[in-house]
Amino acid sequence: MKRLPALFAALLAVGIAADSQADSQGSMAAQTPTAENPRRIILDIDPGIDDAMAVLLATQSPELQIEAITVVSGNVIVDLGAENALKLVELAGRPDIIVAKGAKYPLQRKLITAQSIHGKNGLGDVELPAPSKKLDPRHAVQVIIDIVNANPGEITLVPVGPLTNIALALLQDPTLREKVPEIILMGGSVIGGNASPAAEANIYNDPEAAKIVFNSGIPITMVGLGATSQAKLYRRHLPTLANSGSPIGKFVADISDFYISFSERIGFEGSDLHDPLAVGMAFDKTFAKKLWPMHIDVETKGELTYGETVANRYLLVESVEDVGDHYEITSFPKVEPNAEVPTVVDGDRFVATFVERLSATPRKP
Ligand code: BDR
Ligand code: CA
Repeated sequence: MKRLPALFAALLAVGIAADSQADSQGSMAAQTPTAENPRRIILDIDPGIDDAMAVLLATQSPELQIEAITVVSGNVIVDLGAENALKLVELAGRPDIIVAKGAKYPLQRKLITAQSIHGKNGLGDVELPAPSKKLDPRHAVQVIIDIVNANPGEITLVPVGPLTNIALALLQDPTLREKVPEIILMGGSVIGGNASPAAEANIYNDPEAAKIVFNSGIPITMVGLGATSQAKLYRRHLPTLANSGSPIGKFVADISDFYISFSERIGFEGSDLHDPLAVGMAFDKTFAKKLWPMHIDVETKGELTYGETVANRYLLVESVEDVGDHYEITSFPKVEPNAEVPTVVDGDRFVATFVERLSATPRKP
């Protein structure tokens, strides 16, 4: 009973209230990329219906320059995911984009795939033509290492699947910690999970990898379930996509039908645009109305909480002194944030942008 009041008293004493922390996004708006000065990204995916949407949103966004697409096992095994990625860049009219196949298995846990959500082929059982483009001969982890080293300080990583490839790249080349300016990832949650009561799927599917990434020192924007649940695609959005005359729009309408049907089967109306929102945040951080700096770590031992992103929202901890038969709280040292978490999102504007860009004809680079 004594501990919470003590912590809140300390929060008040240093003038930090929850709301004032949640409002801090000023610095990010200044960095908004443009068509003339695009953000250079590596998109790491496990396609996956919403991964496919994320790829197409990225190729349709002039504010992003995609340096490579790297693939990891997750929603489907990596061999199928890599084939899907090749098909997607051809659909987008972007066969010039490097596509590389990455990790087949998570670092420690057994792989979990999700065909019941994403279809047997990972793309809502919508068939695209067999790709003529080939995979890059390098492993995806090598591609990440090569591109970041050739462009230090320039490449934002945008992972929207389990973090296995990113963790392996950091383990194989620790200098990436100083060379990657930011990671904008879809994953995690500070409002409860979807893969378990505590854990979001991308983190749950490789918690040990996620722990390495969150402890890397690279600034992270964690686009978690709290954000993506505010960016929903409903059936009423589909006719615009389907009737757009764009091959991308038609494909997105078809896979969305499968995706929304799954949501309806489990009792929800509409589907969260998880991975597309991370891409949206890469080209326009003002989709987040509130970005909350937090310190996030990943639970890798908990019985009920394996894969949970555990958030220190107030950036303070209690420090105690042993006074004999008990401990006594003595101070409240500050903790540095390692992530910004969008907690309030302009979902309407994001979904409108999503539908508009994916209804357009494939964009030339
Ligand atoms: C995440 O899990 C996957 O199924 C989706 O592609 C998304 O990346 C949402 O929890
Ligand atoms: Ca994904």
